[in-house]
Amino acid sequence: MASRYSEVYGAWKTDPEGFWSEAAEAIDWFERPERAFEAEAGIYGHWFPDGVTNSCYNCLDRHVEAGRGEQIAFIYDSPVTSSIERISYGALLDDVKALAAVYRKLGVDKGDRIIIYMPMIPQAAVAMLAAARVGAVHSVVFGGFAANELAVRIDDCQAKLIVSASCGIEPGRTVAYKPLLDAALTIAEHKPAHCLVYQRDMLEADMTPVRDIDYASALAAAKEAGDEAGCTPVASTDPLYVLYTSGTTGQPKGVVRDNGGHMVALKWSMQNFFGVQPGEVFWAASDIGWVVGHSFIVYGPLLNGNTSILFEGKPVGTPDPGTYWRIIAEHGVVVMFTAPTALRAIRKEDPDAALVANYDLQQFRALFLAGERADPDTIRWAERALGVPIIDHWWQTETGWPVAGNPLGLGLLPVKYGSPAVPLPGYDVQILDDAGHPVEAGTLGNVVVKLPLPPGCLPTLWNADHRFRAAYLEEFPGYYKTADAGYLDDDGYVFIMARTDDIINVAGHRLSTGAMEEVCASHPDVAECAVIGIADDLKGQIPAGFLVINSNVSRETSEIEREVISLVRDRIGPVAAFRTAMCVKRLPKTRSGKILRATIQKIADRQPWKMPATIDDPAILDEIAAVLHAKGIGI
Ligand code: COA
Ligand code: AMP
Repeated sequence: MASRYSEVYGAWKTDPEGFWSEAAEAIDWFERPERAFEAEAGIYGHWFPDGVTNSCYNCLDRHVEAGRGEQIAFIYDSPVTSSIERISYGALLDDVKALAAVYRKLGVDKGDRIIIYMPMIPQAAVAMLAAARVGAVHSVVFGGFAANELAVRIDDCQAKLIVSASCGIEPGRTVAYKPLLDAALTIAEHKPAHCLVYQRDMLEADMTPVRDIDYASALAAAKEAGDEAGCTPVASTDPLYVLYTSGTTGQPKGVVRDNGGHMVALKWSMQNFFGVQPGEVFWAASDIGWVVGHSFIVYGPLLNGNTSILFEGKPVGTPDPGTYWRIIAEHGVVVMFTAPTALRAIRKEDPDAALVANYDLQQFRALFLAGERADPDTIRWAERALGVPIIDHWWQTETGWPVAGNPLGLGLLPVKYGSPAVPLPGYDVQILDDAGHPVEAGTLGNVVVKLPLPPGCLPTLWNADHRFRAAYLEEFPGYYKTADAGYLDDDGYVFIMARTDDIINVAGHRLSTGAMEEVCASHPDVAECAVIGIADDLKGQIPAGFLVINSNVSRETSEIEREVISLVRDRIGPVAAFRTAMCVKRLPKTRSGKILRATIQKIADRQPWKMPATIDDPAILDEIAAVLHAKGIGI
């Protein structure tokens, strides 16, 4: 079919408010918004400023009221526990209503924050939806983060309640969540009154009397008593959730998502971008701890009336690299979303994609990739293996939904390998040089989006309007700075090449090298340090730390390296994948004292590099190269 992209993008450009007002018709409002946009409100304007709605109502109640209660909302497929469970919209609504009543009993009011620290189990999604139901603001924390990271989030959002589970299952080990939660509550200055803890069969958590409440018993008691909470009407602009993401310091940024604009954008993207219709099975193989999980495991599919897969497993090893294909075939998935690193992991173990032949993938239409740059080699491999379009698309925690991509729902455009295709309606993507001037097509520069951002994007950072302005809006007035570097080609295709800040992308996970440097520097023997991301065939990038040791320290450097590695694991978490630390005599710097991280990275990645004109002492780069080579890096 000929793509309708140009026509639809043009319609948005001609009349953005009319475009989004029409898209808002697909959402149920308690009070329909009279206006699509109010430019004077908020920091750069507010979408649907006078609408009143509820995200849980739109995800669940309205489908059940329309007679679709029997349809499956979630298929929980957990190879790590050998279980598969199907949960209908009706059953999900019953659980959500009861849990919402439990929240109310525990004193949770509209606007209160609830931290959710849970593995990929249905109870996590129930916890999110129940928060939305009572107008509370949820903040999900990924299970791979350590106690300290959890504590920072508890303090920042001043959570009233925490919902957690006894454990998560990683291949080969059980991750006990409760001791991490207890440690976080010791570190945090703010102490939530209660923790609701879901006890999994694999590991029972110790409960602290009064503070800790058993999730299953509380839910069962509420159901038994017939306690149910209705949907609290919230303003379209009220926050639905806060999701913390890596910033340039150890303090993560609390990305705020509103209710109305978020629903409008997600509902639009499910049909027009991903091309899935209500009733079909959609699978985003991510984790609810990431934005992909929020938008495309929970909210997007449910708003669109899809069946969504909750997958507790890995692309490889649970039990084999055919798991993705088994799930697509067994559950009738029509469209899937994953990160390129997952495909690289599968390819490494099954280079010829031999396991694909074991499954019937006839109904499978497309595989979407995001979270990191999709290398053309991996895309071509997946195209050959699966025989369906492999669609790269680009977005960020901040935007909440794709900025650029090839819109399957509107009809695919020609593919250009290495590009996530074209900007979607809502996004006027431009490339500016460092002085803020537009550059020519094909020239690398700062990727920015002309304000206002479309519905669904962050209106601000949690309790940090000033930080929002400083981090995203001040450098290029009138634009949102994505902190990605890239270019537009003559056909308007976007190419995303690198970050312009200290964020690295490790197995599709966004991490701050600045935050890791803060931890390395806290080791008593470390005088100064630098952490960079170096290229990795599987994970895209992995962090590597360079440590300068205090001159009065005479211990074995290998011992200090080991201690720093475990310090990062303990403070940030295993997800940082920080396994490489090396002691060096000195760090290369400019004459004004700036560490030349980019040059170290180029040496490590065996990329061509030039001696920086401002370098203080060029001999230090030879020392660094020798240390890297001794570790087998950059040879
Ligand atoms: N809870 C606790 N620990 C977790 C965790 C979680 N939810 N998720 C990851 N970890 C741990 C892992 O167990 C591992 O610990 P280890 O150092 O003890 O081995 C560490 O964090 C690093 O994990 P990861 O980066 O996932 O590496 P891996 O080697 O275990 O797996 C891949 C590699 C490629 C298979 C895996 O990264 C993957 O599936 N990636 C897909 C990424 C993705 O879906 N991203 C979402 C954005 S779209
Ligand atoms: P996150 O906020 O975790 O979703 O990470 C967002 C960042 O991941 C972006 O700013 C990019 O640097 C990177 N990213 C995400 N998707 C892509 C993509 N398709 N191509 C290139 N980089 C991507």
